[in-house]
Amino acid sequence: MFIPNFIIPDLRTDHAGETGAVFIYKGILLVSKDKEIIEFAENHLLTEKKHLELIEKILPNNEKSKLLFLWKFLGLLTGLIPALIGKKFIYATIYFVESFVEKHYDEQILKLRKKKNSLKLIQLLETLKNDEISHKEDSLKRFNKLSLLLKIWGNIVEMGSRAAVLISYKI
Ligand SMILES: [Fe+2]
Ligand SMILES: [Fe+2]
Repeated sequence: MFIPNFIIPDLRTDHAGETGAVFIYKGILLVSKDKEIIEFAENHLLTEKKHLELIEKILPNNEKSKLLFLWKFLGLLTGLIPALIGKKFIYATIYFVESFVEKHYDEQILKLRKKKNSLKLIQLLETLKNDEISHKEDSLKRFNKLSLLLKIWGNIVEMGSRAAVLISYKI
């Protein structure tokens, strides 16, 4: 697959993000005993592992983020903390994370559309994006309203995701 150079830093953020995503669901599964949550997290985890494999195929090893240990740890916490609090917290967290990732992939797709020869890569990113949308919708239907506390937590998750993207874009 043709990978234009300019998109490599973006793919590094994708790789960091999908690594984090795998660990979010691992974090949930580490503490959750609820059947519905376990099924939900196992399902999503499978998809995130596939995403990670797909990005690994197109991103050279030496271009990966040097801070993968950090993305794993922060991902784990992002799953673990809501899982310790309750079901609604878990679903809302996934809703925030996946909404963020959807936009993140969309921005890259828009960038690539302006250049030539990137059709295959665009298709790949579209596939990932669509999976994230279905993750987002899957979580959205499982909670009804966002309490103030959930909104604050959602803001933290979003800001954290944005910071992680900025950092993993560089290193
Ligand atoms: Fe993903
Ligand atoms: Fe996802």
